[in-house]
Amino acid sequence: MNIFQNKSLLKSSPLGAEGYNFISVNDVENIDALVDQALRYKANPFADKTLGIGKRIGLLFLNPSLRTRLSTQVAAANLGMDAIVFNVDKEGWALEFTEGAIMNGTTVEHIKDAAPVLGQYFDVLCIRTFPSLQSREEDYAETVINQFIKYAGVPIVSLESATLHPLQSFTDVITITETYKGAAKPKVVLTWAPHVKALPQCVANSFAQWIGGWNEAEFVIAHPEGYELDERFTKNATIINNQDEALKNADYVYVKNWSSYNDYGKIISNDTGWMLTNAKLALTNNAKVMHCLPVRRNVELSDEVLDGSNSLVTQQAGNRVWAAQAVLSEIIKSI
Ligand code: CP
Repeated sequence: MNIFQNKSLLKSSPLGAEGYNFISVNDVENIDALVDQALRYKANPFADKTLGIGKRIGLLFLNPSLRTRLSTQVAAANLGMDAIVFNVDKEGWALEFTEGAIMNGTTVEHIKDAAPVLGQYFDVLCIRTFPSLQSREEDYAETVINQFIKYAGVPIVSLESATLHPLQSFTDVITITETYKGAAKPKVVLTWAPHVKALPQCVANSFAQWIGGWNEAEFVIAHPEGYELDERFTKNATIINNQDEALKNADYVYVKNWSSYNDYGKIISNDTGWMLTNAKLALTNNAKVMHCLPVRRNVELSDEVLDGSNSLVTQQAGNRVWAAQAVLSEIIKSI
């Protein structure tokens, strides 16, 4: 038991191993209490420095990362855990995820064989994977992370999956909580922005799911027509196609690109007028500006905004440590 809580802040998962998984906001019992725990760790990073002694965490990456990888390692170290990073895409055997596959092609090892072995080495497994953006059905089935849950036999933490990025979104709620000083609920606007590449919907889906579930903000999503997100994640948001209208009176503007969900994985328009600039920011209630990073400067956001006093992006990225530490502490207690 850590020093802050007697009652678990995560939910038992019906899937996989004993202990808690952290895959989405649905795994969280009480968002505000988990935020409080993260902020206590921010004030006192080594408060639970012996909680994870004797526990080993595996961080598996199927694609690149700066923040997720390093913040989770720092969080594990703060709890006394031993962390090992494995870049599966570069250093591991090519994994097969299809049930019943005849493996006479390029894949070398089935997840049914690899995941239980990893479960022998680690007490907690964290996985980062991206969607293919080729098949919506396959990506939204979350085949990769669900097979780790099914076969590893230890708690699984999503470091971003095909459709969600829960540690990022938890961080975003922490950052809004610690910076908002108003009495009424803040107006939070998630706005689509242009980008040179087709990107996943993960960050936007997940942010919508967390802010919607948190229910402590007036939540607006702005995007050009054709960039509608999966309605399962946006049911608590007001959705409009006029960015200037959305930005009026905003207290927070979260900028993020995503590719089309309906015309799956496609860039269907790339209107540069949706880049957030100081002129756009002037429409808001002196809004704080958020982005998960990495960001394409002067494509998604202008230099003047990113380098200006309203930008929270560095503070936000710093909070990734406390989000990971709060979640890992709950998982350690459960195993
Ligand atoms: N925001 C985020 O997940 O950053 P990385 O891709 O660098 O981990």
